[in-house]
Amino acid sequence: MNRIDLLRKIYADKGLTREAVLLCRQIVCEHYRKHGRSLPWRETLDPYAILVSEVMLQQTQVDRVKGRFETFIATFPDFRSLATAPLEAVLTEWQGLGYNRRALNLKRCAQAVVEQHGGTLPSSISDLEKLPGIGSYTARAVATFAFNLPSAFIETNIRAVFIHLLFPDQLKVHDRELLPLVAETLDRNNPREWYNALMDYGVSLKKLHGNPARRSAHHARQSPFKGSNRELRSQILKVILEDTNVTLSNIARKLQRDDTKVRRILEQLQEEGFIVVQNERFSVP
Ligand code: ADE
Repeated sequence: MNRIDLLRKIYADKGLTREAVLLCRQIVCEHYRKHGRSLPWRETLDPYAILVSEVMLQQTQVDRVKGRFETFIATFPDFRSLATAPLEAVLTEWQGLGYNRRALNLKRCAQAVVEQHGGTLPSSISDLEKLPGIGSYTARAVATFAFNLPSAFIETNIRAVFIHLLFPDQLKVHDRELLPLVAETLDRNNPREWYNALMDYGVSLKKLHGNPARRSAHHARQSPFKGSNRELRSQILKVILEDTNVTLSNIARKLQRDDTKVRRILEQLQEEGFIVVQNERFSVP
């Protein structure tokens, strides 16, 4: 019997025994020794850079983030530089990564780190979670990758691993079921390396086994960008970044969209703090 079948059998018969935990670690770590990826955010222990990488990786593929992470860090090397940079510069640097709200939140987070923590990222999960834009996942991922602190968290690659190894025949696997298993298998002495290994094994499973994370109760495909409101939002913001001080009708004409729709999105963008309006002309502060 191969190791994965043995693990599944032990888990099905007896639950996550010590033997099952060790097998699980063996399978994941062996893959990591042979096929671990070298990624730019793994070359640093700087909490700022690690936070930036986690925010970028939330909704953007690794390959795309790879090309953008280092230039972002070169342009804004620390919390203070991001906190004091004009939003316009931050959004310009963010172009192409999508979900611009992340950039706005990251800048607000940098401001809070400067104002409340003297420019140094706190390491405790509860302090991290109090920062703007940092939710439960990001707080734990940053505590792990930046400070090597052990905590259990789940994202899509981690789901793929546990669903593949321990729930081979189950659909709609809930994170409630997975989280205790993530906690039990966690290498508390070196959580940073363990999570790197888990994520890399998860990525390889997605290629080999048609993404086991699709059997998660939480699996959601990203809705198509083309023709979406999200696309129009990003187009409008791009126009304002490129030709600052444009009017509503300038934007609508350039994008060949009707004024009503553009007006509604401009109102939203203004409310969220992306843009300001003066004498009917829009710009990013
Ligand atoms: N996805 C989310 N965080 C990641 C990380 N640190 N490395 C690779 N993929 C990720």
